[in-house]
Amino acid sequence: MGIGRLSDGLAPKPPMGWNSWNRFGVKIDEALVLETAEAMVTSGLRDAGYRYVVIDDGWMASERDRNGNFVADPEKFPAGMKELADRIHSLGLRFGIYTDAGTKTCQDLPASLGYEFRDARRFAEWGVDYVKVDWCHTDGMGPRALYAKWAMALRATGRPIVLSICEWGRARPWEWAGELGHLWRTSWDIQPEWSSIVTILDRQAELHPFAGPDHWNDPDMLEVGNGELTGDQSRAHFAMWAMLAAPLMAGNDLRTMTDEVREILIAPEIVAIDQDSLGKQGRRIRRDGDTEIWIRELAAGHRAVAAFNRGFDHREVWISLEELGIEPRTDVRVRDLWQRTDVRVIRREIVAATNPVSATVLRVAQQ
Ligand code: GLA
Repeated sequence: MGIGRLSDGLAPKPPMGWNSWNRFGVKIDEALVLETAEAMVTSGLRDAGYRYVVIDDGWMASERDRNGNFVADPEKFPAGMKELADRIHSLGLRFGIYTDAGTKTCQDLPASLGYEFRDARRFAEWGVDYVKVDWCHTDGMGPRALYAKWAMALRATGRPIVLSICEWGRARPWEWAGELGHLWRTSWDIQPEWSSIVTILDRQAELHPFAGPDHWNDPDMLEVGNGELTGDQSRAHFAMWAMLAAPLMAGNDLRTMTDEVREILIAPEIVAIDQDSLGKQGRRIRRDGDTEIWIRELAAGHRAVAAFNRGFDHREVWISLEELGIEPRTDVRVRDLWQRTDVRVIRREIVAATNPVSATVLRVAQQ
């Protein structure tokens, strides 16, 4: 703990972008990726901070070439990865790709065991800015050693490349991954269902000491806009990920999203919590039945507070300044970041209302 965290400046704030997996699985191709990159610009996501366009599993041909090099599936990506990366870069975006540390990817395609330096070089030649390295087909291997090899291989390319470690939290990566990669998964794969989001959230409550600039816990990519999540559930998912200083990787179809989904993803005051320059992850400070209070310290002594209501009743919650670590006599201004309105403070307690199955998110500014 606390030793040799990365501080190379490649991910001073949690990375933001889009990843193909949650919505498209292996049904990906050049047109989808380019249209998504364009939609990222026209929808305003790029300007809201989303930068990485990441192609997940399913991009590679079923075999390496005669020289052992990785090749893209020629039917899905006929122009090749270099060309695709150039076009993504020309839109002011960054390009991310996926591989697996073991003998095959999770979809049984060629993976990188024994090819780490060669593949890292190849990715750098293509103009890759971000690599997600998965953990399927790794029987008997130690994640720490293998991800250390990846960190070395990427560094050896001389190109700045973000390393996204995807070991699902099995070997407590928060204790060692911060010196190797910029983000690491802390849980199994997210699903576009409320129960999955809540299960993952519960796993994050104790992980706050391990995150910071250039090394982030990753509770998995966003499901906003996927499945049957309601508006309140989607807003709660997004806001709680922001409280966690989580990487914000949209996982929906950016080309066809509704205005409601788009407004969640670009909500400026929520994104600002996620991207706060202090880089401190939020934590749960209290549970009262179905209602929980999470707080996150922000730069300049401000605080983000989330009242997370898992139950089916409306609730009113009272939060004292003391609980937030703010000297009780301080003058504060409290703002509801979804409603974009000011919130009452009565005798040094903040009074917030929460809908059933939702999160109310406040920003407490010290005057
Ligand atoms: C694993 C990862 C997912 C995704 C798939 C691809 O399940 O955790 O995020 O990359 O593999 O096959």
